[in-house]
Amino acid sequence: MQDVLPESGVIRKLWMGEGAKYRDHMLRLDPESRNSRFAGGVSDEFIGKYVDLSSALDAVVYGFFLDGIMRGAGELRPLGARFPRQAEAAISIEKRWQSHGVGSALLRHILLAARNRSFRLLHMACLAENQRMQQLARKFDAELSFDFGNVVGEVESSRPTALSLMREMMTDSHGFATAMLDLQTRMIRPT
Ligand SMILES: CC(C)(COP(=O)(O)OP(=O)(O)OC[C@H]1O[C@@H](n2cnc3c(N)ncnc32)[C@H](O)[C@@H]1OP(=O)(O)O)[C@@H](O)C(=O)NCCC(=O)NCCS
Repeated sequence: MQDVLPESGVIRKLWMGEGAKYRDHMLRLDPESRNSRFAGGVSDEFIGKYVDLSSALDAVVYGFFLDGIMRGAGELRPLGARFPRQAEAAISIEKRWQSHGVGSALLRHILLAARNRSFRLLHMACLAENQRMQQLARKFDAELSFDFGNVVGEVESSRPTALSLMREMMTDSHGFATAMLDLQTRMIRPT
C-alpha cells in the first residue's frame, strides 16, 4: 500500500494513549470542515467526548501525520453487539491538506481494516451537499457501494484473507516504527 502524500507525511494507526492527538486535530478543523465531518455543528465539548468514546469502543483510527502533528484522521468505529458486522466510517482532513489525496489514502486504510474485521456495512454520516466526500467514495465503487444522504456503504469483499491481514500488519509495524522515530526526534530536539 504505497500512497503519495503531501509534504512527506505518513499515515499510521493511532496507538492507545494517543487520543489527545486525535482530539486536537478535530478541534483544529475549520467550522465548515467540522460541520461536514459531523453532519452538523458540534461544540468543542462534544468533540472531547466523541474522542473518549472512540477509545472506549475500540475504534480503529488512522492518522495523517506531518512533523509529529496529526493533520488528518480516518476512523472505523464498530456499532457494537446489537449491530454485528456494522461500523461507522469517518474522515477528516485539516483544510490546508485537503484535495491532496490524503482522504483517498485514509479511506483505503479504513477499507482494509473493515475487511479484516469482517464488517459488511459501513455507515457514513455525510451531508447530501458534501460533493467531495461523495466523489471520494465513488473512487472505491468496486469495494464499496454507497447510498448518499445518510451514506451506507457495503464492503463487497468483507472476508479477510491471509494477504489482507498481512497488509494491515505490515502497515502497522511501519507505523509503529514511525511513531517511535517521531518520539525520539522530539526528545532530542532542543526546546
Ligand atoms: C471530504 C474529505 C475527507 C476528502 O479528503 P481529501 O483529502 O480532500 O480528498 P482527496 O484529495 O483524496 O480527493 C478525493 C476525490 O475528491 C474529489 N475532489 C478533491 N478535491 C475536490 C474539490 N475541491 N471539489 C470537489 N471534489 C474534489 C476528487 O474526485 C478526488 O479524487 P481524484 O483526486 O482522484 O480526482 C476532506 O476534504 C475533508 O476532511 N473534508 C471535511 C470533513 C468531511 O467532509 N468529512 C467527510 C464526512 S465523513
